[in-house]
Amino acid sequence: MLSVATLLCVSCLLLGARGQDRTAMWRGNDRSGRCQYTFTVNSPTEASCPTQAGGPEMDALKSRLSLLEVMVTRLAGGEASGAVGTAAGGPGAGVVQQQQQQQQQKLQEAYSQAMGEKAQLRREKDNLDRQVQDLQRRLEESRQEAERLRSQPCVQTPPAASAPQQDSGLRPAGGPSVLSRLVPSGQTGSLRDPSWHYGSPGYQELKAEVTEVPVPTPAYIEVGTGCGELVAIGEPVTHRKADTIAGKYGVWMQDPEAVAPYGAGVVWRIDTVGSEVRQLFGYEDTDQLARGYPTKVLLLPEAVESTGATMYRGSLYYQRRRSRTLLRYDLSSESIAARRDLPHAGFHGQFPYSWGGYTDIDLAVDEQGLWAIYSTNKAKGAIVIAKLDPHSLEVLKTWETNIRKVTAANAFMICGRLYTVASYTAAETTINYTFDTATSQGKALSVPLKNKYRYNSMIDYNPVQRKLFAWDNYHIVSYDVRLGRQRA
Ligand SMILES: *[C@@H]1O[C@H](CO)[C@@H](O)[C@H](O)[C@H]1NC(C)=O
Repeated sequence: MLSVATLLCVSCLLLGARGQDRTAMWRGNDRSGRCQYTFTVNSPTEASCPTQAGGPEMDALKSRLSLLEVMVTRLAGGEASGAVGTAAGGPGAGVVQQQQQQQQQKLQEAYSQAMGEKAQLRREKDNLDRQVQDLQRRLEESRQEAERLRSQPCVQTPPAASAPQQDSGLRPAGGPSVLSRLVPSGQTGSLRDPSWHYGSPGYQELKAEVTEVPVPTPAYIEVGTGCGELVAIGEPVTHRKADTIAGKYGVWMQDPEAVAPYGAGVVWRIDTVGSEVRQLFGYEDTDQLARGYPTKVLLLPEAVESTGATMYRGSLYYQRRRSRTLLRYDLSSESIAARRDLPHAGFHGQFPYSWGGYTDIDLAVDEQGLWAIYSTNKAKGAIVIAKLDPHSLEVLKTWETNIRKVTAANAFMICGRLYTVASYTAAETTINYTFDTATSQGKALSVPLKNKYRYNSMIDYNPVQRKLFAWDNYHIVSYDVRLGRQRA
């Protein structure tokens, strides 16, 4: 009779059966004179029978073994009487031997059938795994396609000739485009820029321009924030050329979170050539900036250093001349609302960008808030990023990169990531480094950027316009940016 122990060893075999194990089967009499079958199997992975087993695989094997056991018991039941007969030396020994051989054969067949089924199951599982992978890949592709389509502007049918020509007619439904961002909301009057005429023939041209602008790069955008990595920068759009030497370099900005009395469309500008820079010009919108007539001129109580200023939540943030002092100038009260030294920050030519110009401390605003980009002696000239409290100017957290500030032509923040510009004079340059404050990881990258006028002294990101604002050799320019995540 086959013992349960023997069957358990069969289970060892089933568990360990990956390759072609050597299997042997013996037949012999046990002490009581009964005939006993024994399997031995060399398993490459199991030195002995496992003491603990579980899981659905083991359960499946157990039930399979129970079936085998039943089969064996039935076979062995017939044999047991035969074996006893043999031991007694009775007649019909030849028949018994034949029976035993048949049973042995059946047992082997049952065993190899079980093994066959196991292999079949494994093949089916592999097959299903492949199908799942295939489906996941297709789902991912559909998602990317949907994202791409969403990021492209809709082509609109031209309005009927009698329809009122409002700027909302130019607004693509699929999200803001170049034009919709440049045209202040609510403006229904004529556009003064000659290239923006949209009488009936011009409208067609304009429409063609709109559909061409965004670069359809396959990319993902984070749902909710619309954040992502910088993947492309558009062509520079020139808004205005400064008409005096004071405007060779400077800074211009729009408040991404404007506060009354100034609306979101208001453009602010500081020409920064000179030793006592204190004038802050305000324009109703980009159109007025283009015509060159400020509607507001504010005289700052303390002089501005360089081109690092930024506008946020109704305040101008800037570095006080010849100091590491940061100032918050409140636009509504027209006074300094907060001042604080940026700890250990180099200033006045200690750690400037490659073009010099006392660009030691650069303030920036992105989707996540207010930042300072600078360096310290401790960082040995490497770019340090500080997250600032916009109310008090306190440093909330700092990150040290391994990019020397003097090797960067400029830097800006987008979605918590720092980007550095390779050259301020090359007509065709690149953003060649990024540092993610979320992971504290930096990496090289190559996103082309055009310095159209060959002397780019200021580049800042505007998170609401989703544009880079720049000051390139007297010219006030902007660039569209495309965010996403590059496909691996
Ligand atoms: C970026 O380019 C500038 C100018 O070629 C170079 O000095 C700098 O090392 C580059 N940075 C990286 C991270 O490659």
